[in-house]
Amino acid sequence: MISLPHQGHINPFIYLALKLASKGISVTFVHLESVHHKLLSKLGPQADPFSLARHSGLDIRYATISDGLPLEFDRDLHFEEHWGVILRDFPALVDEFVGEMMRSEPDFDYFLMTDTFYPWPPAIASKYNLVNVSFWTQTALTFALPYHWHLLEQNGHFPCKDDMEEEIDYIPGVEPINAKDVMSYLKESGQASIVTKAMAAALDAVKSADLILHNTMLELEPETLSALNEYQPNYAVGPLNFSKSLHSYTVSNSLRSEADCTDWLQYKPPNSVLYVSFGSFVHTTKQVIEELAHGLLLSGVDFVWVIRTGMLSCDDTDVLPEGFGDMIEGKGLVVPWCNQMSVLSNTAVGGFLSHCGWNSTLESMWCGVPMICYPIAYDQTANRKLVIEKWKFGVNLCDGESLDRVEIAEKIKGFLSGAYSENLRQEASKLKEAMEKVLEIDGSLDRTFDQFMEDLKAKMDAKTKF
Ligand code: UDX
Repeated sequence: MISLPHQGHINPFIYLALKLASKGISVTFVHLESVHHKLLSKLGPQADPFSLARHSGLDIRYATISDGLPLEFDRDLHFEEHWGVILRDFPALVDEFVGEMMRSEPDFDYFLMTDTFYPWPPAIASKYNLVNVSFWTQTALTFALPYHWHLLEQNGHFPCKDDMEEEIDYIPGVEPINAKDVMSYLKESGQASIVTKAMAAALDAVKSADLILHNTMLELEPETLSALNEYQPNYAVGPLNFSKSLHSYTVSNSLRSEADCTDWLQYKPPNSVLYVSFGSFVHTTKQVIEELAHGLLLSGVDFVWVIRTGMLSCDDTDVLPEGFGDMIEGKGLVVPWCNQMSVLSNTAVGGFLSHCGWNSTLESMWCGVPMICYPIAYDQTANRKLVIEKWKFGVNLCDGESLDRVEIAEKIKGFLSGAYSENLRQEASKLKEAMEKVLEIDGSLDRTFDQFMEDLKAKMDAKTKF
């Protein structure tokens, strides 16, 4: 199994590995060496995310592979260059790795499980006669749009222009969607980026995958998933992260050390605290942080705010306004990283001001916490649309990227109090209940997973006959 080297992809991959292993499959989980290096700094020399799960009886081996760049190369700072190497040099290293593994343990029947964002799996799968399973870690909506890239082109909607008036209303299984909600890499502004090129190649490559897994629930996106099934076998296996049976295994998925917020939260009244985080990956500007900081102060609400290293799009390390630490006086807690699930499930937390990364969205839903949405890039604008319009457990912070402190303060106050807020919380609770139902023993997730296992076996049997 090879995930993308980012927290938002690693998290669902790790739980998928646990699920497969709990079904008796021997898993080799491969981290890029750069990711392993981060784990080493956090966990020490024994950094292996699965060492405890292995002690509990799961057959999960752990391996590392180079992405073709030296370890000291700053991959966050030179994102485009990093991706250039991932596309150009990494496939040959994977090829070598897979070949070596199959030679050293020839008695296994193998299949390949990779992140849909990678364009190279079909070549490797075909060379080694492997069943090719692709794992899309995001929503079915954000899969369906680039999957129909040719339709976007035919309709003159690629690249998609922000000022476009008409809606995209011809993607099978997808409700009409406005340009502002479309993923950044399909837009005019993102067109020249390496992500756009990589996504075009990857969404073309996935068409030859044998089976496609999605980190979403059938109950959340039934029409889109059903339309996708007309083309290829798709399975909604989300949200594995919350499966109780998998939580009996301890894994190390977080790439950063987590600050404990429990002591600080314990004296706050129920639903009074706003949790603010923009995930593990996207950058923002100093101006956005400044308006947010003052907006939070003006709102008067208590907050926990994750300000991670490298969060700004410039290399300025002074992220917060001068004197902010003194100004918040027990009303706010700023941390470099935390255990997000533990914060969201704390009864004191009543709302999540989020960039709408898909993991964060699922986690907010699972904890029954309404969201204020401030999407920054990638799939986040599309996730906002789902949160606000389809699932109705969130509100929009603002249109566009620029923020105003007074507007933020008003929005936050309204969001955390009154009937409106109660309504959002009820919607969030309904989603939580739906998720719990999906995850019940013999619930729809188990049934879908069993079907996937059956189909995988049939595909593997067919391969070994030739
Ligand atoms: C990226 C993309 O930006 C996102 O849009 C896409 O859906 C997945 O890949 P990221 O930006 O990191 O992910 O956001 P998200 O998907 O929300 O994942 C962040 C993960 O980091 C979550 O699982 C969250 O629990 C975790 N996290 C975040 C922490 O554990 N601690 C923190 O302090 C902040």
